[in-house]
Amino acid sequence: MDAFETLMDEHRQIERILGSLETFATRLEQGADPSLLSGFVEFLRGFADRTHHGKEEEILFSLLIARGMSREAGPIAVMLHDHDQGRGLVSVLARASEAADAFAPAERQEAVRAARRFVALLRHHIYKEDTILFPMARGSLRPSDQRRLDWDFAAFDQGSGAASLRQLAARLAEDFPPMCASLEASEPVGNGCDLHCTIAGCPVRNPWDEPMFLGY
Ligand SMILES: [Fe+2]
Repeated sequence: MDAFETLMDEHRQIERILGSLETFATRLEQGADPSLLSGFVEFLRGFADRTHHGKEEEILFSLLIARGMSREAGPIAVMLHDHDQGRGLVSVLARASEAADAFAPAERQEAVRAARRFVALLRHHIYKEDTILFPMARGSLRPSDQRRLDWDFAAFDQGSGAASLRQLAARLAEDFPPMCASLEASEPVGNGCDLHCTIAGCPVRNPWDEPMFLGY
């Protein structure tokens, strides 16, 4: 896989966990133990943020900025803003996972809201990268830049622990099967309800309606 294929493969992995987190948010609302959020927090911080956003921010975005794209406006600024918003929401989930017996009803609701907001945020974010930023970047970089990206990504992933985090993701998907909003609640889809869903009638969110995205 080249660098862009690697990022998109990681997107598919993250989307599966978003489906599981969506399932868990419903269970949390119904009284599930908040400490079970710790597995999601470990995956989201270790894989989605450190492994995936790390490659984007430290390597891809840096290269695009060096080649003339703005950091303060346009797609990269929006992606960085999304990453920061996501980190804030994961911090809410992390606090909730440590609340144990002191978990008040208002805190439970806050955690449920944060989980659902994170799922929606990341689904839209991934869609924007897959359909706007990555094709734009792929088309604008020279072949030598693309080779450098491939090499830097491989070096970044050396010893990153991504393999064990993928195993954690598989356990989470087994414990909390992703549900598709278009199907009966008891009917797991298996690959999560994401923006690439092709099931007829699936009420896929339309990221183009997102206020922050308008104007591109
Ligand atoms: Fe991404």
